[in-house]
Amino acid sequence: MDVSGLVTRFSFVQSGTCPQCGASLFSPKEHPNVQACMECGYSSIATKTQEERLKDIQIQNRKDEVFNYLRNTSCFGSSKVFNYNFGNYRPIDEKEANVRNKALSMSERLAKGIKDDPMHIFLQGGTGRGKTHIAMAMMYEVLNQTKYVKNIRKKVGEEYQIVQVPLAVTFVNWSRFMTLKQESIRDDEKSRQFTLINTALQTADIAIVDDLGKEGNSDWYFQTFDELMEIREDQHLIITTNLEGEDLIKRYGDRSMSRLRKHARGNFISFAGIKDHRMLKEGK
Ligand SMILES: Nc1ncnc2c1ncn2[C@@H]1O[C@H](COP(=O)(O)OP(=O)(O)OP(=O)(O)O)[C@@H](O)[C@H]1O
Ligand SMILES: [Mg+2]
Repeated sequence: MDVSGLVTRFSFVQSGTCPQCGASLFSPKEHPNVQACMECGYSSIATKTQEERLKDIQIQNRKDEVFNYLRNTSCFGSSKVFNYNFGNYRPIDEKEANVRNKALSMSERLAKGIKDDPMHIFLQGGTGRGKTHIAMAMMYEVLNQTKYVKNIRKKVGEEYQIVQVPLAVTFVNWSRFMTLKQESIRDDEKSRQFTLINTALQTADIAIVDDLGKEGNSDWYFQTFDELMEIREDQHLIITTNLEGEDLIKRYGDRSMSRLRKHARGNFISFAGIKDHRMLKEGK
């Protein structure tokens, strides 16, 4: 086949030998990694460099690890929460557009300070306003921006090296978690589950505590939150709640709240004035 006309017309350059038939391979000048054989039709369109492919595999492995941890340590009502992201958050008015922009810029800050700049983020507002959706979207955004890892200093042999470790993230619906705590007293399987989730809540790089304040009135529950805040005082935390600041203080006391406020400056998103999306779906 005479390809000289095509070659000049589309600015191709000869770029090697076809692995299938041994004829010449050609690449568009602007895309030297894409090669095609005019003889047998071989195309390397999906071909990335070996290094790029290895990197993709590495990121995919980390992603699997992060999502396995998230699935195994989370406490949720419906697994629908795992589908919430910024891609499917569609603002219907200016207020929601502002929420999205604010949440995106907080995610960026969180990703940048993932290792040593803790943030406590509050998403506050009425039911159906999109708090849980935004909380999960923020977590995914941070994972995307960090490529699922954080750098830590680790002793390797005699010296310290910077190594990348997968991030640990978890989602805990607080009232379900409190119910699990109650049930775990008499049920070994629930007790095992509770311990797993509790450990993740205390140690994960990012924890979402969803729907704080919906659990029943019990000092035992409030105390659990106090204990958690003692441990997560300097770790990333995203809280969604229907309660206003005053009511949170009344419920959990000033000690827990002052720990929460420690890294919360400027990290508050109000959903006031936003429509209830569950009602909108039902056409109300
Ligand atoms: N802007 C939006 N675009 C797409 N879906 C949205 C948007 N806002 C909310 N939703 C959807 O509306 C539903 C309710 O949102 P979500 O569960 O996040 O509300 P919530 O504020 O957490 O409510 P609650 O206080 O009852 O927990 C979800 O299915 C969510 O995906
Ligand atoms: Mg919610």
